[in-house]
Amino acid sequence: MDRIRIRGGRPLKGTIAISGAKNAALPLMTASLLADEPLVLEHLPALADITTLAHLLALLGVESTEIANGEAGRTLSFHARHIAETTAPYDLVRKMRASILVLGPLLARRGSARVSLPGGCAIGTRPVDLHLKAMQAFGAEVELAGGYVEARAPRGLRGAHIVFPKISVGATENALMAAVLARGESLIENAAREPEIADLGRCLAAMGARIEGIGTETLRVQGVDRLHGARHSVVADRIEAGSYAIAAAITGGDVELIGARLDLMGAVAEMLGEAGLAIDETPRGIRVRRAGGRVLGVDVMTEPFPGFPTDLQAQIMALMTTCEGASMVTESIFENRFMHVPELVRMGASINLHGASAMVRGVKTLKGAPVMATDLRASVSLVLAGLAAEGETVISRVYHLDRGYDGLEAKLSACGADIERLRD
Ligand code: EPZ
Repeated sequence: MDRIRIRGGRPLKGTIAISGAKNAALPLMTASLLADEPLVLEHLPALADITTLAHLLALLGVESTEIANGEAGRTLSFHARHIAETTAPYDLVRKMRASILVLGPLLARRGSARVSLPGGCAIGTRPVDLHLKAMQAFGAEVELAGGYVEARAPRGLRGAHIVFPKISVGATENALMAAVLARGESLIENAAREPEIADLGRCLAAMGARIEGIGTETLRVQGVDRLHGARHSVVADRIEAGSYAIAAAITGGDVELIGARLDLMGAVAEMLGEAGLAIDETPRGIRVRRAGGRVLGVDVMTEPFPGFPTDLQAQIMALMTTCEGASMVTESIFENRFMHVPELVRMGASINLHGASAMVRGVKTLKGAPVMATDLRASVSLVLAGLAAEGETVISRVYHLDRGYDGLEAKLSACGADIERLRD
């Protein structure tokens, strides 16, 4: 398994191009199931998760064709002319739990779906009860058999009024994709407001869907008989942008994030400003630099958008390990998202866990060490710590990293980092 070796202590200087968002690309790809004409997606990142989902879509009968592959990411066409198969098998779903996002589109287009339950992952049990309840609200019969969700709607889906008891990104996406072809009007309340959902809404509208309230917590949808093809560019990845903003901060550098959008950064830009960083919009994106002195300790609690994103919790904690003072980091979305903590402690960080909160006391500097990645965002937090640490850090199990960061070593090396992949 590949490892990444970093020799730390070099301030990052230069520019980093931000790729299309993984968490927008995945639902956008499943939306191709809703039409019998091609959906062309631009600005797709080259990530393992995208490849895995393309395999699953191919199993279902979606033809994907690469149209371009350049600086601005990949352009792929996804054409679900016919849906030959409605089963999403366990061996693919267990590799990428976002496969559950084929449930709504398959029910809406074909009236049947058999999707393996994704199972938990490193960061939590990740139930899908809200997805299933939403499908039942649209009139589908849903049962669990042999580790699979078996859902049927032989007479098609009917418009529903859904009030989510808890904010869920994936359940909102599945409900929206079901609603666009359901008979009549649907109202989805307490919907998640992540920018990736707004991006999906805009793409569905381009395909002919009738949606009001895109980007808000209330989505009103008038179902239509069919959707047509469209061309859509994937929104920039705010989590990748936040990760590299923190890379600039932790190394005392000065980096311009090309294609990043301040309006997508929600509470992240605010928090980084409080920590003493200069964040400025530029004509091409966002410039992040440490305006002298040490990073100041700030408290962080993860919340649904526009609050501080859980997908940047591990990264901000890495930044806080060398802050002036202390920082309380509270994870309120997932039940087990502190696996980066023992690895950061191995590098000399001072972190104490108290339930859903981690008390981080700033130390002067981190020391490089051999560490292990455990999940996607924990792995990048170890990269960030390695960039700042004295000496050499070697991170194992970096396949986690490849799921969510397109060209990470190249992007960081281009800004002066001493980082290389060791192929075993
Ligand atoms: C999406 O996961 C993202 N993944 C996650 O990013 C992200 O961390 C998460 O949203 C929160 O922002 C993709 O978009 C592919 P949720 P999702 O449903 O949809 C509970 C990354 O690193 N819940 O908003 O699975 C759930 O257990 C990944 O890129 C239920 O209880 O997240 C969690 O506690 C990690 N029942 C909370 O809701 C359900 O039916 C939020 O989960 C669904 C979720």
